[in-house]
Amino acid sequence: MQEIWTAVDGWLTETVVRPGTEWIAAEADSAAAGLPPIQVTAAQGKLLHLLARLAGARRVLEIGTLGGYSTLWLASALPQDGRVITLERDPHHAEVARKNLARAGLAARVEVRVGPALALLPQLVEEGAGPFDLVFIDADKSEYPGYLRWSLALARPGTLLVGDNVVRSGAVLEGESSDPRVVGARAFHELVGAEPRLSATVIQTVGSKGYDGLTVALVLGDGVR
Ligand code: SAH
Ligand code: DHB
Ligand code: MG
Repeated sequence: MQEIWTAVDGWLTETVVRPGTEWIAAEADSAAAGLPPIQVTAAQGKLLHLLARLAGARRVLEIGTLGGYSTLWLASALPQDGRVITLERDPHHAEVARKNLARAGLAARVEVRVGPALALLPQLVEEGAGPFDLVFIDADKSEYPGYLRWSLALARPGTLLVGDNVVRSGAVLEGESSDPRVVGARAFHELVGAEPRLSATVIQTVGSKGYDGLTVALVLGDGVR
């Protein structure tokens, strides 16, 4: 099935999603710089963009920048004075991302912070950087449970949490798995489902990146139900 998923994804990207030239250049330059080609697809990135616009987001937190491809989709959804803070452990990835964002004229709207996310997140809480209107979780899969907890600490009622790669070709069903990414994804789903502050769903996806899924969760409370 992968062949047809890729072909349909390509056609829908050209026909409907229509990424700008800076988006296409960002993918090319990320590949040329040796980054792994694991960014969201254009169709998924456009979904992030539309969710951010629907949420009226002004402040976005992203965990896992890579070359800034998803960051382009998120930052371009914000008003001029909006801000994305994106966290990236690898300084080379962060450098590539800064260039990709600058080319698209979005550098002023994005702060790329370099370090392990689990060290940067408590700093954001300490600084009072929240609450964020949308959080996109997309770094190392084994740490998703921790990222969820910190995201909740940086959220408000009405914040949208989005998690990438939560189905993993169906591996998420493997309760006996010793793969830390699967263990992390399973624990993430269990935490999301048991969290009274969240109303959530998971969209299974197919496309050029195979079979995976996205969690979409709304933070409840204070009149948001
Ligand atoms: N959101 C990007 C893809 C992110 S890929 C997009 O869709 O365009 C995952 C990124 O998370 C990689 O760049 C990796 O270096 C980074 N990462 C992995 N572990 C991390 C950690 N502990 N803290 C911060 N970043 C991490
Ligand atoms: C991986 C990470 C991602 O964010 C993704 O979308 C696909 C794969 C990975 O680390 O393998
Ligand atoms: Mg991902």
